[in-house]
Amino acid sequence: MKQIFLITILLIFTLFISSCTDNINSEPIKIEDNTTNEITSYTIQDISNHKSKEDCWLAIESKVYDVTDYIPDHPNEKIIDGCGKDATQMFSKHSSSAKENLKNYFIGNLA
Ligand code: HEM
Repeated sequence: MKQIFLITILLIFTLFISSCTDNINSEPIKIEDNTTNEITSYTIQDISNHKSKEDCWLAIESKVYDVTDYIPDHPNEKIIDGCGKDATQMFSKHSSSAKENLKNYFIGNLA
């Protein structure tokens, strides 16, 4: 009787261990991940297609920004002169807080 009990326990234990090992050897769970860390590049030609108050991209130090949403907050309308262009020179005298804020509008690198 005691032997049967021990054999049963051993059998259950063996089954338990084998099910654990099966899990280890099985295919890894695939998690769908469509996010990429790729940074898009835009040419000056691409930027020049966004030169209005309603759609304003500009390049500053080889980075491209879509500042459309910022235009209403800019202290004056001068910012529109930079739309669709490389505005590095126009932006160079801005304060460090303006430079910090600019990061929020980054969309890619200048090709
Ligand atoms: C590229 C075209 C731009 C031009 C020609 C331009 C021009 C100017 C000018 C003339 C001023 C002085 C206004 C005054 O003293 O009343 C100014 C101030 C300012 N601009 Fe621009 N701007 C441009 C782009 C930007 C961008 C892209 C940002 C931010 C995302 C920005 C943020 C500011 C801020 C915060 C000020 C207040 C002063 C400072 O903090 O430097 N500007 N801008």
